[in-house]
Amino acid sequence: METVVSGIRSTGKLHLGNFYGAVRNFVQMQKEYNCYFFIADYHSLTTHPTPADLHGNVKQVLVEYLAAGIDPETATIYIQSDVPEIAELYLYLNMNAYLGELERSTSFKDKVRAHPDNVNAGLLTYPVLMAADIIIHKATKVPVGKDQEQHLEMARTFGNRFNRMYNVDYFPEPYAFNFTEKLVKVPGLDGKGKMGKSEGEGNAVYLSDEPEAIRKKVMRAVSDAGPTEENQAKPEPIQNLFDLMKIVSSSDTYNHFDNLYNKMQIRYGDFKKQLAEDMIIATSPIREKIHDISNDHTYLRKVARLGAEKARESASKTIREVREIIGFKSF
Ligand code: TYM
Repeated sequence: METVVSGIRSTGKLHLGNFYGAVRNFVQMQKEYNCYFFIADYHSLTTHPTPADLHGNVKQVLVEYLAAGIDPETATIYIQSDVPEIAELYLYLNMNAYLGELERSTSFKDKVRAHPDNVNAGLLTYPVLMAADIIIHKATKVPVGKDQEQHLEMARTFGNRFNRMYNVDYFPEPYAFNFTEKLVKVPGLDGKGKMGKSEGEGNAVYLSDEPEAIRKKVMRAVSDAGPTEENQAKPEPIQNLFDLMKIVSSSDTYNHFDNLYNKMQIRYGDFKKQLAEDMIIATSPIREKIHDISNDHTYLRKVARLGAEKARESASKTIREVREIIGFKSF
């Protein structure tokens, strides 16, 4: 059976981008593959969370994973920092990761632009840690959104380089995949690009948002004065809202509003109202489960312990073999 590994950075609540980009498919995948889903809390240290924020955010993601339907008995759900073998593999891979290639990564360049005051080495080597996350379980499939494609290419580079360096055929090549369709990019509500936590307040709809909050955000989403010609191409903010509707609404609903747009009869108020209601329908069952699970500390502790045990079993086998390949020997 092929192995799947995927993670979410523990920097806050899950939004619709995380859900439709990755998490929704985890639920089906766990039935067909040997799945490892984890909470990337080592990665979150690049942005310097306080100890209280760190723990709260890890818990939030764990709760939301479970609320979205991941089954801790079928899949392995764990917290990255519970598996120190990952940090060890990251150290080894760092010896063969070169400054030039790390500096060329798009996400690194974006981060440098956004936070010039915090260009730390962890940020630079973020793709190396991600490669370690994946290849520690010898995964071949990595469910992620479109934004992670380049990181997967780097994971293949680091795994292949290890193989070549030691003349072994040890790590298989991991590829980004989405299980049912091609990789997804969920747009945000601000009219310019993807939904994300760091793109500003109001851009993201969270799984835990109350219906009223969703209505408010969607009604405030960036749009324009309306189409001026029949069948015209949609400008980015409008295309983004239609893309969101394609994700959360039925095809009948989508076609209805698409026709109205093409005939220049669309009323954005009605369009947004429908979009918000369909987002509420999609998120409500998860939101209700989030409330139930977040107070069940005994259950959460049990899940985290079980996951750490299963993940360490797989990771420590890899580390034992990697140490041998590298040439570490006990006296
Ligand atoms: P993160 O935490 O930014 O996002 C988690 C997952 O959600 C997807 N995603 C999106 N997909 C579509 N549209 C969007 N607007 C959108 N926003 C987020 C991401 O593609 C991702 O699948 N580096 C990773 C976490 C990570 C990881 C790993 C993932 C660490 N190690 C190993 C896979 C395997 C990240 O920051 O994702």
